[in-house]
Amino acid sequence: MKNWIPAPVSRYGASFVGMTLFMLQGCVGGNKTAWEYMPDMANSPAIKSQKMVASLPHHRGMLMPPDGTVPRGYEPYPYKEDPEGAAKFLINPLPKTEEVVLAGEKAYNTYCIVCHGAKGLGDGPVVPPFPKPPSFHSEKVQNWTDGRIFHVITVGQNLMPSYAAQIEPQTRWAIIRYLRVLQLAQNPSPEDRDAYREMKEARKKKKDK
Ligand code: HEC
Repeated sequence: MKNWIPAPVSRYGASFVGMTLFMLQGCVGGNKTAWEYMPDMANSPAIKSQKMVASLPHHRGMLMPPDGTVPRGYEPYPYKEDPEGAAKFLINPLPKTEEVVLAGEKAYNTYCIVCHGAKGLGDGPVVPPFPKPPSFHSEKVQNWTDGRIFHVITVGQNLMPSYAAQIEPQTRWAIIRYLRVLQLAQNPSPEDRDAYREMKEARKKKKDK
């Protein structure tokens, strides 16, 4: 009978039984808690992100990125002190499409509308008490290049903070495409008016069908 058991099993039989019992620990049914073997990793102490922790490098729960590292996809901004350089050399990489404008509208209504208002008149819901920002329909901003506006969103301007941390560069460019649409809407040419009227009529016809 002994010869019937394959050699490795008989040789390691004891450890097989041991391993099987060990693995079955996790299968204790019902409401009984399984025996935990070395539970250190499972029950690590939870540190609150804002809490002071003397043993950590920056003495707080929330870890800071190591010095000298940058986030994935980070692009340095070389025009921090040079708005004219930004105005001259930065070019909007996004096409003038409905998709881009709609993405810009969404981001504008998330980040900018509170101060600048739905039409860019500087009459957002936080104004006042927040000081009234200038309108986007001034001759100055109408004549600014997209790069110059990108500069304001990226580094801020006086009371307006930088939005570089919240808004990715691509989204900033999309916002600028939408800002241009706001400007056009406030200041349409006769051709724009005709095109708008035609579009509205075409839509109405489609609806009536
Ligand atoms: C917290 C309120 C606030 C928010 C949010 C805000 N801005 Fe501003 N913005 C201002 C104020 C105030 C100024 C005027 C700053 C100054 O005095 O130079 C300004 C100025 C500007 C200017 C320059 C206008 C000029 O005539 O000089 C542009 C362009 C601009 N903002 C775009 C944006 C865009 C785009 C967003 C959204 C990404 C945004 N702002 C979000 C408050 C805000």
